[in-house]
Amino acid sequence: VLLDFSTSLNPLGPPPAVYRALRRQLQGGAALEHYPDPACTVLRERLVALHGVAPNQVVLGNGSSELIQAIPLAFCCRRVAIVEPTYTEYLRASLLARAAVTHWLAEGDDFVPEPFDPEDAQLIWLCNPNNPTGRLWPHGVLPAWMAAHPGTLFVVDESFLPFRPDEAEHSLIPHLSRLPNLVVVRSLTKLYALPGVRLGYAVTSPEYADLLRARLVPWSVNAFAQVAGVAALKDQAYLGLTHAWFRSETQSVMAALQKLTLNLRVVPSEANFVLLRLRSVSSAWLLNKLRAHSIRVRDASNFIGLDEHYVRIGLHDSESNRSLVRQLAECLNPKHGKESSG
Ligand SMILES: Cc1ncc(COP(=O)(O)O)c(C=O)c1O
Repeated sequence: VLLDFSTSLNPLGPPPAVYRALRRQLQGGAALEHYPDPACTVLRERLVALHGVAPNQVVLGNGSSELIQAIPLAFCCRRVAIVEPTYTEYLRASLLARAAVTHWLAEGDDFVPEPFDPEDAQLIWLCNPNNPTGRLWPHGVLPAWMAAHPGTLFVVDESFLPFRPDEAEHSLIPHLSRLPNLVVVRSLTKLYALPGVRLGYAVTSPEYADLLRARLVPWSVNAFAQVAGVAALKDQAYLGLTHAWFRSETQSVMAALQKLTLNLRVVPSEANFVLLRLRSVSSAWLLNKLRAHSIRVRDASNFIGLDEHYVRIGLHDSESNRSLVRQLAECLNPKHGKESSG
């Protein structure tokens, strides 16, 4: 079997309640025979209750990807800044909207994010925690930075934040009432392991929500995605299991990887994935080696600000993670690998 660490989905797999809800939908037939609710009323109510915002502040999309693509068009941004290295779709969306793009690179080997002067940027993209570095913005820094630049729109992608047990302390959604220049984007496909369904949302001011909604395809969130989202959000037990997994696996994998520091540098991660810098070999070389052991990791050399020495691993269950660390040790230092696996 292939062990795929190249994506960063919840290794618990889709919540069982989602399978049950989708089966019920198919049996009834109505979900196939009618157009979906364009307002996603039931799903939106769940998100309103979850975040304590008004219904007109929530915009649902066909994956957060649909929202990311619509944002620069909806807000007519001509000049955009991106905090790099980060998810490449912010750049693609900005270029599709014919915006001029400036890249801000996080300083140092650990990619600690810091505020900068937006100068004439009308929109700043950032991701928290950031894909692929796994770094989280220090507590309190983002709201202060945003308040100091009311003329700049900040788009904060929190797609990986709900994996963290302390997500409520780090989310910017509670700050929306004081920050009219903020759009928070979230994906439901990472946390609930539903990438095939396509579901994401944005939370912002009612005015910005209207502008964004006007840019989306009609009925973009299909009936099955709506039902899957409602079932997933209801499942509190799943969230508890996810947080328990996050606590134990992030700590033990980071500790195990730190022991391989002769061969690689571990970027300290605060997310459910880890960025590694290989010391003496290229990512292509390592991918090839791991492929022979049916292991796949993400070649991270294409991110702006990274090079051919970077790979990203999305964490799995503890047994798979242990296999990965063992294989990494073996590939990067065959002698060490044999000792540690024996
Ligand atoms: C940071 C980030 N945001 C958003 C997305 C898009 O997710 P989706 O469209 O499945 O919601 C991804 C996918 O890899 C991502 O890494």
